Amino acid sequence: MKITVVGLGYVGLPLACLCAEKGHDVSGLDIDSARVEKISKGISPIEDESLAKKLKKVKIRATAKPEECIPKSEIIIVCVPTPVDHSHSPDLKPLIDSVTTVSKHIKKGSMLVIESTINPGVVEEVVAPILKAAGIDPAKNDIHLSHCPERIDPGNKKWTVENIPRVVGAVTNEALKKAAEFYRGIISAEITELSTVKAAEATKIMENTFRDINIAFINEMARSFDMLGIDIMEVIKGASTKPFAFMPHYPGIGVGGHCIPVDPYYLIKRAKQTGFDHRFLSLAREINESMPHYTAELVEKAILSKAGIMQGAKIGVMGLAYKANVDDIRESPALKLLSILRGKGADVRAFDPHVADMSDFVDLNELLDFSDYLIIATDHAEFKKILAEDFKKNNIKAIIDGKNCLDMGAIKGLKILYHGIGRS
Ligand SMILES: NC(=O)c1ccc[n+]([C@@H]2O[C@H](COP(=O)([O-])OP(=O)(O)OC[C@H]3O[C@@H](n4cnc5c(N)ncnc54)[C@H](O)[C@@H]3O)[C@@H](O)[C@H]2O)c1
Repeated sequence: MKITVVGLGYVGLPLACLCAEKGHDVSGLDIDSARVEKISKGISPIEDESLAKKLKKVKIRATAKPEECIPKSEIIIVCVPTPVDHSHSPDLKPLIDSVTTVSKHIKKGSMLVIESTINPGVVEEVVAPILKAAGIDPAKNDIHLSHCPERIDPGNKKWTVENIPRVVGAVTNEALKKAAEFYRGIISAEITELSTVKAAEATKIMENTFRDINIAFINEMARSFDMLGIDIMEVIKGASTKPFAFMPHYPGIGVGGHCIPVDPYYLIKRAKQTGFDHRFLSLAREINESMPHYTAELVEKAILSKAGIMQGAKIGVMGLAYKANVDDIRESPALKLLSILRGKGADVRAFDPHVADMSDFVDLNELLDFSDYLIIATDHAEFKKILAEDFKKNNIKAIIDGKNCLDMGAIKGLKILYHGIGRS
């Protein structure tokens, strides 16, 4: 099949590679010409070993010109970003722009799949009208319009684009069957057909709000237990011995990435239009958004107890990415934490081995050398390996372990002040 993947990012590029590996003739359309150029040369713009290897093997015709790929494609899959703006309102511009472009070039009888995360209603209320305005009616199967939300977890070696089960919903039954058949051909996991496109949209939003709510819950427990002098990590370990009805989640400095801190707002805003107030989802967002501030308070308390003044305190932040071992800084709580601490007059500098262009140092040694106080903002493998003795050698006075990933006992044993999120 001739396929065009629209949007070659964390979602679109692995998908394009998978389609090519399965023998399809794949083009990739992106508005970012630097990205297009890299991919055309077989270079991955994303830090991901297996993706880099795949790109060297498979052929993806990357382009910024829709007329070169859309008219000849039988399948078009849209993987553009769906962010929120500063007021947390859904920003559908990339989706609207890309579907508008597709509508000008798509040939009748083709399949159009939206993989981007969207709230219930977007396919029927936003995507379909754009197509209709271009004289294409998906309800009449002029093209086969469906939604198959992506569930990829970048950096996860066990669950990949190829083996994560998928759900699909479509505008017509024919479109549903065609989309399900296509995905069964490329994915080695169950493809579940849902009866409506709205159900597929809601499935993805519910999965991600489930995660946001559970993280907010454990963040709240961590803060409460900290006041009670109870180690949250020990409690999570204890609760995890229950073989049913408990699922461990872990506290931290906040929630980042393009999905978990963003997607709940899509549902909150859409539900509001129907008169429904998602109090629980909004509270979870509020708690998780407050975590960088809470972490900054821990840092401030530690510094004041040691030096009596925040002004000029030399703070080293370890990690800028929103999660371990990836280069993605979107919505990263580390960035919020940096700006809060700088606002308090501290001399804050950061190092992330995966985000070199935003790091203040070339390596970890330089950061340790500079810092009097340390914050672990991301639990990168490289950071977890540091020994308590190395902190001591560098005269670190206090460590705020925002990921509870260091050896608390060893650090405290060397008389370095240690505070995690929910343990000290
Ligand atoms: N990142 C994840 O872990 C993840 C996981 C599951 C689902 N999703 C969802 O998938 C979607 C894509 O996310 P992502 O992380 O891949 O985003 P991304 O920013 O990594 O990639 C999106 C790409 O789309 C391109 N683009 C933007 N507007 C375009 C347009 N009008 N035409 C063509 N290309 C355009 C961008 O240049 C970029 O290369 C989002 O809806 C996101 O919520 C993301």
